Formats: sequence, C-alpha cells, structure tokens
Amino acid sequence: MWVSFTIMTIIEIFLIVFALFFVVQFFNILFRGFAPYVSTRSEVINKIVNELDVKEGATVYELGCGKAGFLKAIEEKFPKAKLIGIEYSFWPYFVAKLQLSLTESKIKIIKKNIFKVNLSDANEIYCYLNRRTMERIEKKFEDECKIGTEIISYQFPLPTKQPAKIIEVNKNHKVYFYNL
Ligand SMILES: C[S@@+](CC[C@H](N)C(=O)[O-])C[C@H]1O[C@@H](n2cnc3c(N)ncnc32)[C@H](O)[C@@H]1O
Repeated sequence: MWVSFTIMTIIEIFLIVFALFFVVQFFNILFRGFAPYVSTRSEVINKIVNELDVKEGATVYELGCGKAGFLKAIEEKFPKAKLIGIEYSFWPYFVAKLQLSLTESKIKIIKKNIFKVNLSDANEIYCYLNRRTMERIEKKFEDECKIGTEIISYQFPLPTKQPAKIIEVNKNHKVYFYNL
C-alpha cells in the first residue's frame, strides 16, 4: 500500500516536471521567439569539427547548447580549449549538467539567456537557433566580439553578413561560417 503510494507520487512529480517543461518551452518559443530544443545530428557536428582549427586556450561557446553535443565533440578533438555552453531551458540544461558531471569533462554550462552573456572573450561560437534569433544576435556579435571571432551557424544564416564559407551537409542542410 505504502510502496504503491510512493511510486504514484514519484510518477506524478515526473509528469508535473515534464508538463512544466513543455509549458515553459511553448511560452518561450511562441511569445519570446526562442529556438525549440532540437539536437544537431552527430554527422553534422563531425563535419563542422573537421573544418575547425581551435587553438590551445581558445574560448568556444555553444549558444543555446542543449545537451552540448558540439562542445563535447570539440573537447574530444581540442582538449585544451575553454568550452562554455549557454542554455536557458531547464531540462536540456539539467541533462547536460548531469551527463557532464559523470565524465571528466571541463565543459562549463551556464543557465542563462544568450542575450545576457558577454561574448567578448569568444574565439569560436556555434549556434543552432532560429531565423528570428539570428536576426537579433547579429548586432550583439558585431558590438561585442573581437575581430577574428569565428561564428558557425547551422541552418540559419546571419541576415546581413556574408559567410566566409558554406558547407552543404545535404540538399536542405547547410552550415554557415563567418569571420568577424
Ligand atoms: C535547436 S536547439 C540546439 C541545441 C544544441 N545547440 C544542438 O545543436 O544540439 C536550440 C537550443 O537553444 C536554446 N535557446 C533558445 N533560445 C535561447 C536563449 N535566448 N538563451 C539561451 N538558450 C536558448 C533552446 O532551449 C534549445 O535548447
């Protein structure tokens, strides 16, 4: 009796946490224009990482990092880089923190709105966001980032900047590389 009551309570708590996550996600996507949570496929990440030459001590950001798949791949290939993931949404943030705490990873995950993070120390920035966010963030990149910072955006180009390079993963999937 007591055991089934406890199990029911745990299931109810899980359901409430899930429901809350979806309500918050829905609100952020609909009313704040945030990109939804969708992971970059590992095939795409590998293609991008193969294009990069991250110097020792360079600072790499993944903006809206989700489970930080990009940073994990960078850490494997360039273990001396400083890696920072920014994620606003609780659930992906929690999963990323949990996964990284079980490894020796030095990736730092910060729960924050990307627009409230100062990017002046960035050398590389990876984004998989949405059109609206890329439109808003272009000015922030121009105002804050130093010359030479490389911006990599999957699927959504910056509205006015000319990419230095575009990689076609397949017909409908492109990666845009920019040098500030
Ligand atoms: C399309 S997913 C990409 C996840 C991960 N970067 C990847 O490529 O696998 C976009 C992520 O950005 C987060 N996000 C969207 N807008 C954000 C904002 N303004 N500040 C912080 N995170 C944001 C979402 O919660 C979501 O996890």
